[in-house]
Amino acid sequence: IQRSMYARKSEGKELRRGRSLDNRTVSSSFGRGSTTIIFTLKNEVGGLIKALKLFQEKHVNLIHIESRKSKRRNSDFEIFVDCHTDHEQFKELTELLRKHTDIDGTPFISQVCVCLDCVSDVPGVPWFPKKISDLDLCANRVLMYGSELDADHPGFKDNIYRKRRQYFSDLAVNYKHGEPIPRVDYTAEEVRTWGVVFRELHKLYPSHACREYLKNLPLLTKYCKYSEDNIPQLEDVSHFLKECSGFIIRPVAGYLSPRDFLAGLAFRVFHCTQYVRHSSEPLYTPEPDTCHELLGHVPLLAEPSFAQFSQELGLASLGASDDDVNKLATCYFFTVEFGLCKQDGRLRAYGAGLLSSVSELQHALSSSANILPFDPTVTCNQECMITTFQHVYYVADSFEEAKNKMREFAKTLRRPFTIRYDPYTQSVDVLEDTNNINSMVKDIRHELDIVEDALNRLSKKLQSV
Ligand SMILES: [Fe+2]
Repeated sequence: IQRSMYARKSEGKELRRGRSLDNRTVSSSFGRGSTTIIFTLKNEVGGLIKALKLFQEKHVNLIHIESRKSKRRNSDFEIFVDCHTDHEQFKELTELLRKHTDIDGTPFISQVCVCLDCVSDVPGVPWFPKKISDLDLCANRVLMYGSELDADHPGFKDNIYRKRRQYFSDLAVNYKHGEPIPRVDYTAEEVRTWGVVFRELHKLYPSHACREYLKNLPLLTKYCKYSEDNIPQLEDVSHFLKECSGFIIRPVAGYLSPRDFLAGLAFRVFHCTQYVRHSSEPLYTPEPDTCHELLGHVPLLAEPSFAQFSQELGLASLGASDDDVNKLATCYFFTVEFGLCKQDGRLRAYGAGLLSSVSELQHALSSSANILPFDPTVTCNQECMITTFQHVYYVADSFEEAKNKMREFAKTLRRPFTIRYDPYTQSVDVLEDTNNINSMVKDIRHELDIVEDALNRLSKKLQSV
């Protein structure tokens, strides 16, 4: 089995696991409907009563409760609750559960997972975030926590590493939109691992990375302290991206479903892991880590045309069917993760999975790789390889071309409304009646007035020369 530094195995899991949570498929209804919350309680007398009182406090009607011993922490119990709630009640309740502490200030609930599919306010359409802060509701619906490692993970038997991973999971789970991303004091071992990845990849970038990547990489050295002996802080990188392309970073504890991950892109939010791969195999990781995010994704996210392409993928996913979300996720996989482009007659990589993998970056640009033109109608059905290099890579002439093709493809998806992003409020408008379409037309008229005014002034200027 060829191993790459990128998490094909786990990405496959992301793409294949639909809306099931904790191996349960939750049935859905709409409006004030049933939804599911799973939380983890410390094993202490009266803990469950305290938690259920919070449901009572918010007038949330419980339908079904189950408990089981936690697989993550042996001393904890996981409680699965089906309840009747609406969107606002639900938000308040999950906030309350996350914040509630004992008298001594320690939280008595360590994790809260939620299923929002049932509280959609558009009948027949899965719940989706309407404003950027709504990502707080879905960013913690991780399919797998950072400290839960598979038996073949390089860090599986390393208890110190697993404890460290739990630390990173806790940082991400407790993060809320608008807060600064916690700065991490990386250990000497973590910096050494990052250093190996950094050094080996930098040997390949001049001949393998696309022009936009090579343009932005030195800026990251200058403004975000990218160097062989320093792991950049996500907070600094987030500020940098905000100025370049409007993207910001949000720390994440583990794998999100394709739906939740793509929803972040719709708001120009990129979910990033903050932990470093295990030191025993610096050039391999079975899951995305901060080396993959910082070296693979960040330089391209600073590029406005790429940022626009990524956001449009995200916007197309909001409220889409599971089938369509999987198609979009596959297009994401073969572009943002494994995409190639043609520049000056030569193939170059722009996919983060390639730009963070020494072996696959070389393979994808070699004569043994299969290359096809990017066409979302074909690409969306391509199998994402899990334990080997991709069978096919898709090449786009430019991000502009890829964006236009994705835009046309998005129009063919079955969604009963169109969505428009409002950058002023960082929210989305659902264009499904004449009122909001009228308001959009007014905005476009205003923009056209500005264009007309600019052209008039320019032509006067030219006449006077
Ligand atoms: Fe990635």
